[in-house]
Amino acid sequence: MTVKNICCIGAGYVGGPTCSVIANQCHDIRVTVVDINPERIAQWNSDLLPIYEPGLDEIVFSRRNKNLFFSTDVETAIKEADLIFISVNTPTKTCGEGKGRAADMRYVEESARTIATTATSSKIVVEKSTVPVKAAESISKVLVANQKDGVSFEVLSNPEFLAEGTAVENLVNADRVLIGHNETPTGRAAFRELRDIYMRWIPKERIIGMKTWSSELSKLASNAFLAQRISSINSLTALCEVTGADVSEVAYAIGHDRRIGPNFLEASVGFGGSCFQKDILNLVYMCERLSLREVAAYWQQVVDMNEYQKERFTKKIIETMFHSVSDKSLAIYGFSFKKNTGDTRESPSICVCKRLLDEGANLNIYDPKVMDKQLISDLNRVTCNQEKVKRLVKICRDPYSAAKNSHAIVICTEWDEFKKLKYEDIFKSMKKPAYIFDGRKILDHDYLSRIGYEVYTIDTIRSNRSKNKTRESTEVSGKYLAKRNDEWYPAEVIQKRPVQDPNTFEYYV
Ligand code: UDX
Ligand code: UDX
Ligand code: ADP
Repeated sequence: MTVKNICCIGAGYVGGPTCSVIANQCHDIRVTVVDINPERIAQWNSDLLPIYEPGLDEIVFSRRNKNLFFSTDVETAIKEADLIFISVNTPTKTCGEGKGRAADMRYVEESARTIATTATSSKIVVEKSTVPVKAAESISKVLVANQKDGVSFEVLSNPEFLAEGTAVENLVNADRVLIGHNETPTGRAAFRELRDIYMRWIPKERIIGMKTWSSELSKLASNAFLAQRISSINSLTALCEVTGADVSEVAYAIGHDRRIGPNFLEASVGFGGSCFQKDILNLVYMCERLSLREVAAYWQQVVDMNEYQKERFTKKIIETMFHSVSDKSLAIYGFSFKKNTGDTRESPSICVCKRLLDEGANLNIYDPKVMDKQLISDLNRVTCNQEKVKRLVKICRDPYSAAKNSHAIVICTEWDEFKKLKYEDIFKSMKKPAYIFDGRKILDHDYLSRIGYEVYTIDTIRSNRSKNKTRESTEVSGKYLAKRNDEWYPAEVIQKRPVQDPNTFEYYV
């Protein structure tokens, strides 16, 4: 068999871009992406695609209705296909065994059932979904239990490694493609079929065949390792804050060790996205189920550190603004979980906004790509208080109106456009003191301080107030006082480590 007809079940962040790229690379293969959600399919067939990815529009518009189709007719697409990708959502279970951690395999199972009851010829079924813990095994069981006479299925694992915002580039120029297969003649034959599709644009040595379970675990482990790097560097931001070290310098230094490498070491307000937290929790859950308590605890700490980081950032905002943000206005720059995507799943911005809303702050939120409906539904979900969201949240069309008359700017996403704003004009339009909390360390903090902003980043406090050193400082019941012009002032000590001797501090008054 040579694959001529592909069906993809699930037209989301994974299925949509993956199949669009396949269709673009293989004009002789007919690719049909199906979804049970008619609204989503209508969007894929319109001028405004349901997801934003650089380079995706061009590909879809050039191949759509030629060899790339979007449809709600799941059954016809299954019948016609030689190879079927399952790219449905696998959210974290919200109830029952493994609640809050295990992947909910219900949609994968449903897809397998539909394939088995619909197919009238043999198929290769490829699991692509984001969290496939032993999914291939469950898929196989459902397929075998329901298959018709004369029809057989071969299940492959082909995890997706695309990162949102760079999906097209990652798919076209993949570091590696994993194909997990059964170690049987039919398993190996199915592997070769899928490999031949990828080989049309990916060098052969980057296409790696392995056992099915290794392929599934590699996906979880890759995401766990990546997330671990971010939690590791983020854990140092708290230490930098008290010691005066600069986390960017530290990241630069350790990144120059070739064994470590420079990528994925940018300290942030915390990682988000649909994969990292979910995959690690899955790994943790699986380890616990296998009585590997120490292993579970090791990986759980990566998630815990991320929670700590989001909370620490928000606490700092509140503390810095005189311990209260109630009735103050804060401009939130960025709501997506990272730049170049409108996706908000597990976005750290959601946690930051929730905590600020709990404190009664008014939020003027600006994000270049997140849809209003999505933003409001995320905040309604986490606050469980629609009335409060309606009263306190304003969605802004541009960053300037968001900052106008506000007390602070909070950067939650590293969108490039935030680096190029006219911060002098913004400063004039804000209440004073005007704060900037840079949760991504993307701005020029010295420049902002010179304008007059009070600048806080995740690893340090900067300020337009002059730094002072004194011998004449004292500590009274845990509060620091510094002497200036013969008067004692409460001082915010920024360098707790004694500079020369125990009575000398660097401080702001
Ligand atoms: C990730 C993996 O990168 C990808 O290989 C896998 O297939 C799916 O999960 P994605 O979630 O789309 O991709 O985005 P990614 O670029 O990995 O970023 C995840 C989160 O980490 C974002 O919130 C991002 O802002 C944050 N991050 C990333 C940092 O805080 N610092 C960094 O240095 C890198
Ligand atoms: C280390 C650092 O590599 C070096 O840069 C630093 O200056 C001093 O500490 P060293 O302890 O001499 O050097 O050896 P290294 O090669 O880093 O190995 C450390 C331990 O990790 C060894 O027990 C090694 O067997 C183990 N290791 C290393 C692994 O188990 N797996 C690996 O992939 C690499
Ligand atoms: P991912 O990031 O994994 O791509 P998404 O939620 O963006 O996740 O996309 C998954 C898509 O799968 C959704 O559009 C959903 O409607 C679709 N889906 C879920 N179950 C089925 C099913 N049984 N048949 C067809 N499509 C499905």
